[in-house]
Amino acid sequence: MEIKPVLSVDEIDLSDRAFWMRSGAEREGDFATLRKERPVAWMSEQGVGDSDLIPIGPGYWALTRHADILEASRNPNIFSSARGATSIQDLPPQFSEFFGGMINQDDPRHGRQRRIVSRGFTPRALGKLEETVERRADAIIDRVIERGECDFVNDIAAPLPLEIIADMMGIPDSQIEMLFRNTNIILGLGDAELVGEGDIIATALGAGAELATLMNEMAEDRRKSPRDDLTSQILNAELEDGALTGQELASFFILLVVAGNETTRNAVSHGMKALCDYPSERKKWAADFEGVSGTAVEEIVRWSTPVIFMRRSCTQDTMLGGQAMKEGDKVVLWYNSGNRDEDVFEDPHNFNLLRTPNDHVGFGGPGPHFCLGANLARREIKVMFERILRRLPDLEITGAPDYLESNFIHGIKRMPCAFSPGKPGA
Ligand code: HEM
Repeated sequence: MEIKPVLSVDEIDLSDRAFWMRSGAEREGDFATLRKERPVAWMSEQGVGDSDLIPIGPGYWALTRHADILEASRNPNIFSSARGATSIQDLPPQFSEFFGGMINQDDPRHGRQRRIVSRGFTPRALGKLEETVERRADAIIDRVIERGECDFVNDIAAPLPLEIIADMMGIPDSQIEMLFRNTNIILGLGDAELVGEGDIIATALGAGAELATLMNEMAEDRRKSPRDDLTSQILNAELEDGALTGQELASFFILLVVAGNETTRNAVSHGMKALCDYPSERKKWAADFEGVSGTAVEEIVRWSTPVIFMRRSCTQDTMLGGQAMKEGDKVVLWYNSGNRDEDVFEDPHNFNLLRTPNDHVGFGGPGPHFCLGANLARREIKVMFERILRRLPDLEITGAPDYLESNFIHGIKRMPCAFSPGKPGA
């Protein structure tokens, strides 16, 4: 990919919506300018929609170098996830009911919550899920294979992570459409198509409330008859030490369903687009699927960086990347930029399925918040591409991707594709 820097370092405004509407090549070019000329840059903030529930904040430090992102991630005592939130704007109190999950907490509270569900994500637990992931992936291909064309995002990339997190939590298939709709709203708040005409804040709260209602219904059911699912695990933890309040339960549930689906969907969609743009890489993978998969999956996550940033807040005056920061300052970790850092990645704008080492920050930096679902996501991406390369070997993207308007999720909403029709179950 040829990057095209267009702005001078003083003109780059990461809070400007227009910045995020420009092409990937231009954005990457401007991030390269920041890394080189002002790797810790002060950015002012803009308001969220027309709402006055979220006042315009004081601004933030933008970290664009890999090394600085790592340093902030490794020092959660100084760079907190709980002060304000991990979004650029502080969450208003109404939001914590639905969005106050562990991603927005510090230890020890964060660790206590993470331990409740971490058992569900161990290699052993994931091993047990293996067959479900494969069966679900085959069913997804079966649903489209006779048509010869479909929307890659909605028909192929989206269903697997959604169905798997639903299976893990014991959410019935009848609710999957509702999960899809509401998690899209929560992560797509910058995009007018997903929010509609309504007020952004009210729409987000409405989506949170609908998911919380499902959690409450499931909680009632599991209290009567516990099952072997994550929802029962969360509830049992509540019963054992009275630890989780109703509010904590809802935000726990919402974090898991939101974090577990749109991220993996976008990794698969961007990964497919990259395989079409780099046919020699695709050939390599198809020729030796098992041999190449380990590095290929990591490169897809680096390349796509589905979660563009996370925020921290300084708990004390400190220095980072040679910049003095004050207690309370917001610090934004631009994972997309860390993943293109020339000091760490050779030829970073090239998609290279055999890239080693590949110390990307697509799942976050090293520290307590490193993605809980990383191994699950890796497995889903691998299984999905195994099916695509084997069962839809000539699949091509036939139109321009329709990108999500967002500075937070690197998303594709729709992307048409075509392939030679085949037989279900083959
Ligand atoms: C390719 C797919 C995925 C990507 C790119 C991704 C990315 C991330 C990132 C960047 C973070 C770090 C947050 C921070 O720095 O504060 C994170 C945390 C998290 N992820 Fe993922 N994620 C993916 C898949 C999943 C899946 C499948 C799940 C399953 C439920 C999941 C659950 C979580 C949870 C619960 C956290 C919060 C962890 C904590 O705060 O301790 N993610 N993810």
